[in-house]
Amino acid sequence: MGEGLRTMKANDQLESTVFVIFGGGGDLTWRKLVPALFDLSQDRSMPADFSVIAVDRVPLSDEKLRQRLHSGVNQFSRFGKAKDAAWNEFAQHISYQQGDFKKPQTYAALGAQCATLEKEWGAKAHRIFYMATPPSMFGEIPKCLGKAGLARDREWARIVVEKPIGYNLESALALNAILAANFEESQIFRIDHYLGKETVQNILAFRFANPLFEPIWNRRYIDYVTITVAEAVGVEHRGGYYDHAGALRDMVQNHLMQLLCLVAMEPMVSFQADEIRNKKVDVLHAARPIDRDAVAQCAVRGQYGPGNGDGKKAPGYRQEEGVAPDSQTETFAALKLFVDNWRWQDVPFYLRTGKCLPRQASEISIQFRAVPHRSFPVGASLGWHPSRLVMAIQPVEGIVLGFQAKYPGPKMQLRPVDMRFSYHGSFDAPSPDAYETLLWDVMKNDATLFMRADQVEAAWQWLMPVLDVWAEAPPSDFPNYAAGTWGPEETQGLLACGHSWPVPTELVEQEKAKTKPKSH
Ligand code: BG6
Repeated sequence: MGEGLRTMKANDQLESTVFVIFGGGGDLTWRKLVPALFDLSQDRSMPADFSVIAVDRVPLSDEKLRQRLHSGVNQFSRFGKAKDAAWNEFAQHISYQQGDFKKPQTYAALGAQCATLEKEWGAKAHRIFYMATPPSMFGEIPKCLGKAGLARDREWARIVVEKPIGYNLESALALNAILAANFEESQIFRIDHYLGKETVQNILAFRFANPLFEPIWNRRYIDYVTITVAEAVGVEHRGGYYDHAGALRDMVQNHLMQLLCLVAMEPMVSFQADEIRNKKVDVLHAARPIDRDAVAQCAVRGQYGPGNGDGKKAPGYRQEEGVAPDSQTETFAALKLFVDNWRWQDVPFYLRTGKCLPRQASEISIQFRAVPHRSFPVGASLGWHPSRLVMAIQPVEGIVLGFQAKYPGPKMQLRPVDMRFSYHGSFDAPSPDAYETLLWDVMKNDATLFMRADQVEAAWQWLMPVLDVWAEAPPSDFPNYAAGTWGPEETQGLLACGHSWPVPTELVEQEKAKTKPKSH
């Protein structure tokens, strides 16, 4: 990247595009969407003719909006603080439209604005309607777009829906029905930002672009799989939203289930969006339904109380802003599930996610079975572990294969060692933010990394018994883990004998660094 003189250059391959962002004055637009669009523009990944129309209820001038968005770009762009020339050029493409999301006038004005832009550009434009609003608006906006005729053009009009897609199966079905009444499925882009992460996309590359792993990627060689998405932060400023959601709805129904699908799916036949999505949804169809009576054996919930996070005193969840002082909402969830098919029969998949855990760590760990026969003397294999493959998603980005090696010396002694791939060490290209990838895909009309209606519904369907049973029997022991710890003790009880929750890669590395024998 050239220093200082980075100004926007257009990508000639892309057709004219109008981004209409409902909720254009909100946090998501400020923190994620506009910084991602700005970064795309800096990478020559925006069309020559594009416009960002931010729609919101409050009165705001174009200038005020741009100032606000500028501060977001300065904080969140992956290129750091924006150079004046680059920002000024980009900012010309942004405008504000005040409007009520429920009023036809808002949509009539948007339609007129799009038509004016197309006239100015002398070309038809893709119209991307992005719902960056509170979920209560998700049903309203597609209906209004439909009524205004703005959804009609199947090739050129698209709608982007943020999670949560529904609050449960019933509301997800209802929302999908509204979307389907106004848009074709091919026009609907349901975002799960995990799918835009490089390390998540890499799961497909790792599994299906290498012949080595697929032959052992099954119940014969794999003992169990754990998927951890741990966050060190609490609910931050989102208590109001989170207290009505909880970890199951906020993280498991979407991000963790998506990771599960990528790990467990069958190889795709081609890289077509629907082929990949078909393979993923097959996993959810094969997920063994949880019996309501068995929820206690398959699922554990937790809520953080006061504790220590990052060496500082951290408040409990119930003390957070926007959270009810007697809240029963879970900030931690762990689940055990099985995928009933030939590949995975009886292999447990353990999922866990939580807020205010000791550190941020998103990892998938594939624990291989022990060798069928141990031929080494007992003394040689103290500290022996079966091989383990960790796909580290964040903050460590890479893959670590742990296996046994001979420890140097006259005696035969085995010790676990690692073979590792790190994104930073192997590639000099920086990882784009997930939103960059996803917005680029929406522009290119590529739905591979987006959730299809049936997939969202299948994930809800699988989760409903847990949601229902938990709602019917409020927890009596909340808060049941201290901020800065790995969640409630009961999480251990989900594990079969001999299984364990892995220690995140970063911690393993730190421990090894401390215990490494000094060379003489
Ligand atoms: C969001 C959740 O979808 O994902 C948040 O609503 C969570 O609660 C966030 O913090 C985690 O995303 P990431 O990319 O920081 O792991």
